[in-house]
Amino acid sequence: MTQAVHTRRIFSGVQPTGNLTLGNYLGAVKRFVEMQDHDWQTIYCVVDLHAITVWQDPEQLRRATRELTAAFLACGLDPARSILFNQSQVPEHAQLAWIFNCVARLGWLNRMTQFKDKAGKDRERVSTGLYVYPNLMAADILLYHATHVPVGEDQKQHVELTRDIAAKFNNDYGVPDFFPQPEPVIEGAATRVMSLRDGTKKMSKSDPSDMSRINLTDDADAISQKIRKARTDPEPLPSEVAGLEGRAEARNLVNIYAALSGLSAEAVLAEHGGKPFSEFKPALADLTVASISPISAKMRELMGDVAEIDRILGKGAEQASEIAEPILAKTYEIVGMVRSR
Ligand code: TYM
Repeated sequence: MTQAVHTRRIFSGVQPTGNLTLGNYLGAVKRFVEMQDHDWQTIYCVVDLHAITVWQDPEQLRRATRELTAAFLACGLDPARSILFNQSQVPEHAQLAWIFNCVARLGWLNRMTQFKDKAGKDRERVSTGLYVYPNLMAADILLYHATHVPVGEDQKQHVELTRDIAAKFNNDYGVPDFFPQPEPVIEGAATRVMSLRDGTKKMSKSDPSDMSRINLTDDADAISQKIRKARTDPEPLPSEVAGLEGRAEARNLVNIYAALSGLSAEAVLAEHGGKPFSEFKPALADLTVASISPISAKMRELMGDVAEIDRILGKGAEQASEIAEPILAKTYEIVGMVRSR
């Protein structure tokens, strides 16, 4: 149906677990928005089923789901050009994930670094959902026969696993072209935005220190303060990218500046090379505030009309189901499930 007129089908998801960070914005959502400008079908999902792989307070989850939808809209995702919905409203995600639980191998999941990081030392006590999380992610992508998956660097391994699951399914059932091999799209200056407190750790919503990240809901004062206090070294900025070698914090701030301004890191250093951080940080803070403030203002406005957000999610779920239902039905048929009603 719609597939024929689009050259690519894009799918990506974000978990509704707390505030979106500048890392989520630059690594993912900003790029989701840019992808709407092509002749591609774009499908973006609030992955609430993934969220509950770690404990979520039900009221808080409902709120976070709507807030993330408001953030999507405030960043420029347009329900007239993209399908926007929350995962649990399209039950085929969970249904296909079950099939993939039976395709993926234990050894594959044992290699997932995100599981190791999240489970930490307390592996025996995490949910089984956390362990099979990547199978659900593979289901999200393959349920739409998506061809491209824009993500940050940290999700690359999960998209690679998705490719392995697709290949094994196609091979086991003798359907060579049924599931496509989706490509991870990891592009731009900020595919891995680092913590402002430690240039070796990624910026994350779950970091205990709020000073380590910029949230899309932070006001101008908070943003300026966090950037002013960001960890750096005592040297001035180099005038070439090679000079960032071994300077993780400096590199991170330059990359953030590049991603927000649309310039390359080279161009940023051509302009700011030789300056001390006491000069570069205020410029970065101004740029960040100018980029983020309109988003947080718009989010607040959108959260004033929750019924409208729910309507958008409902409409998006209907559109998503139109694509997902026939693909799941075909999958069941391939697997040998009798469907007699
Ligand atoms: P999540 O919710 O952790 O993050 C959402 C997106 O933000 C990117 N990201 C970052 N990018 C750059 N720098 C950072 N510091 C940073 N932190 C996060 C992530 O790479 C991601 O693209 N498993 C996924 C959600 C998901 C999904 C999917 C993604 C579920 N199903 C299907 C793609 C396709 C996740 O936990 O993202």
